[in-house]
Amino acid sequence: MSLTEAQRQQVERAVALLRAGELVALPTETVYGLGADALNPEAVARIFAAKGRPADHPLIVHIADAAQLTTWAARVPKEAVALARAFWPGPLTLILPRSEEVPDLVTGGQPTVGLRVPNHPLALALLRAFGSGIAAPSANRFGRISPTTAEHVRADLGERVPLVLDGGACTVGIESTILDLSGPQAVILRPGGISAAAIAEVIGRRPMGREELSVPAVVPRVSGALAAHYAPRTAMRLVPGEQLQREIERAARLRVAVLARRAAFDFFVGAWHEAPRDAESYAHDLYASLRTLDQTGADLILVETPPDDDRWRAVADRLGRAAVGSGEADET
Ligand code: TXA
Ligand code: MG
Repeated sequence: MSLTEAQRQQVERAVALLRAGELVALPTETVYGLGADALNPEAVARIFAAKGRPADHPLIVHIADAAQLTTWAARVPKEAVALARAFWPGPLTLILPRSEEVPDLVTGGQPTVGLRVPNHPLALALLRAFGSGIAAPSANRFGRISPTTAEHVRADLGERVPLVLDGGACTVGIESTILDLSGPQAVILRPGGISAAAIAEVIGRRPMGREELSVPAVVPRVSGALAAHYAPRTAMRLVPGEQLQREIERAARLRVAVLARRAAFDFFVGAWHEAPRDAESYAHDLYASLRTLDQTGADLILVETPPDDDRWRAVADRLGRAAVGSGEADET
């Protein structure tokens, strides 16, 4: 896709803002990011302030192409090169030993750095024009639902971000897979669009899941790993499909909103969101659906438990955390 003249001007403005140490929200294929010049600690500090995020949580550095890996990583293992070749640009973040140049604020003081090349024409145009790395977490207030449209970002962060590059709705819709290659094991810290099986095919060994690690203390801080995350303000509960009808009847005195992979029951009055049946489309719609249901004024959101199947792992992960963190008022 080539950019329109208006988009080119927006990218130029974004580059000027980044060079001046300001924040720019940018589209990626996964979710919108809240970006700053990754080599400017003062700019990066603005990200934490705008998100209300704890300062010890590391950020992903977005780069234009795999050739920039050596600027940010002290060591680039063969497996990283092979994965970059297979999946970049795309929804895979690699955790590698950091190089000296990376500010502590970006890595949360850890000896590693998260790196990814996003697959979005506007993001790539921005990264190429900027010429350096852009540190960017998801562009939402800490713990809340990640944004998949420019409107979501404006609703969450408003005046806290001077420019939101509008690249339309994100195609993937949930955050990247995070793969830690900094130690002897390859470990998936966060499931996402790139599956463990797809990674195994490229590196010739099966990556471990975070839950398989015997020493939890060695796992670096990952805010996406907090039990409560990606959460609506309305209370939310996961319910197996066959129990959905009974749970709705039991909650008769509450205003209930439902997200399910089936059409609404005939007797149901209220907000019912019929979700796609395949995991990819479901993920694509997930955050926008949760935001919509969160705004219906319901007392309770019931979500049909996703299938227990590898393809649904990333969706199940986000739904589980959204349920745990749900129902809490903002701390702002
Ligand atoms: O798809 C994505 O990854 C999106 C888009 C904007 O690229 N970004 C995103 O960022 O989800 P954020 O900050 O919301 O989540 C990134 C996760 C965090 O949980 C963070 O702790 C983890 O990546 N992370 C970053 N650097 C790390 C490191 N060096 N070691 C372990 N975890 C790291
Ligand atoms: Mg996030």
